[in-house]
Amino acid sequence: MSGTETAYPVNRYLAGNFAPVEDGRDIDDTEMTVIGELPGDLDGVFVRNGPNQRHAPPGNYHRYDGDGMLHAIHFEGGRARYRNRWIRTRCFEEEAAAGHALWGGMLDPRRDDRPDMPLKDTANTDVMLHAGRLVTMWYMSGQPYLVDPVTLETLGPAPLGGDGPRRISAHAKTDEANGDFVFFDYGREPPYMHMGVVDAAGRLTASTPIALPGPRLPHDMWMSRRHTVLHDLPLIWDEEAYHNGRVKLRFEADWPTRFGVIPRHGTADELRWYEFEPCYLLHTINAWEAGDWLHLTGCRIQPFTDAHGQPDLQSIVTIMGRHKLNARLYKWSINLATGETREGLLDDRWNAEFPAWNNALMGTPMRNAYCAEIEVEPTIRFAGLLKFDLETGAAEHFAGPADCAYGEVAFAPASGGGDEDAGYLIGFARNEAEARSEVHIFDARNLPDGPICKLLLPCRVPEGFHATWARGDLLSAAAATSQGGYTA
Ligand SMILES: [Fe+2]
Repeated sequence: MSGTETAYPVNRYLAGNFAPVEDGRDIDDTEMTVIGELPGDLDGVFVRNGPNQRHAPPGNYHRYDGDGMLHAIHFEGGRARYRNRWIRTRCFEEEAAAGHALWGGMLDPRRDDRPDMPLKDTANTDVMLHAGRLVTMWYMSGQPYLVDPVTLETLGPAPLGGDGPRRISAHAKTDEANGDFVFFDYGREPPYMHMGVVDAAGRLTASTPIALPGPRLPHDMWMSRRHTVLHDLPLIWDEEAYHNGRVKLRFEADWPTRFGVIPRHGTADELRWYEFEPCYLLHTINAWEAGDWLHLTGCRIQPFTDAHGQPDLQSIVTIMGRHKLNARLYKWSINLATGETREGLLDDRWNAEFPAWNNALMGTPMRNAYCAEIEVEPTIRFAGLLKFDLETGAAEHFAGPADCAYGEVAFAPASGGGDEDAGYLIGFARNEAEARSEVHIFDARNLPDGPICKLLLPCRVPEGFHATWARGDLLSAAAATSQGGYTA
């Protein structure tokens, strides 16, 4: 948009707080109202990805279609600065050169004239810090891009080992203990999935085909310190509809859920599959080893019950297709020596999704996860926040105001260190009563007390997807060594 107003067709995902915003804002805290005190031990960048459509869409715009835009708050020395920038992907640049949209969305016909890019790769879903740079990701498996975490300048495609374009899905993980970046992709051609690892110096240290029985719709993976765990879930595209150019989900209730366990640098013949009750899950939380056991936690989609009180597995299609998100904290366990498996709910009360955690401890037996409390009626809303004990399932709850909608939060460890939960939860909030976008900062040790600081922004931040915390010490370390791994 960049100063010019674009006329969008009537579409609820281009209206209200879904409406796109202008690019290039750069606002320091003298232009915000600060309620409470900014913690002095916040050092780093909170950054969130999400759709922000630049050109009037030619067809049936869907919420997932918009061009990726990053919104960030840089905290340093007790000060805060907000920035937003589009991710300047290849498709974004092609449309910028044309001056109008060249791709429709996921509900529109795919572009037959562009076998390399039948759908617009927006990079709009996820963002992680690796080797001092942000890496943006798209949930349909796309080209990851490198972005400067402070300026939000797009630096170019992430080479991920340097041997040509490599598509990856959203929800790659960074192991902050050694700097590994662990990722997966999925697609419609055999073997249907790959997993890979890029080390802190940017070298591709693993690239392994993961053979699935057919095309699948995985959304996430797990990373323990020793293993990568991949998803083969019974929610798929309906193939007949797909070949007719339509989007229709199908749940194969007779298929098991399968999790594939492979050492981080393992080869395809080291992959082992383990079966569980059929389910779907979007977001994982943590994986860790304890003796022979590998434990996995995540937000499992909770099917609605039928007239007899039994789980209606086909309701998973409705839940996923119509944004009726219904998920519960869940744990799966695998004995890697005997093959025994166990599974069950950790909590059956809270509809909880979009998890965050102290990323320094991911892959180890960490104790806490922080989730959005999901409301789905009349429309989906992140109504509050939850802090879960991952051993006991016990929850602490913060109920947000009725006229407030949160986005995904990130956990920012206090720069002075401390216990696992010594730090802050940071997220954007939409205050509908005041028609205002805000940043809320919580003490993670006292979540029910509510935000300890709010930044009232003079501009709107639209609804988005995933957020992360770029630790200031990791940014400084990467800048000091200038190894960066990546040379975009
Ligand atoms: Fe996601």
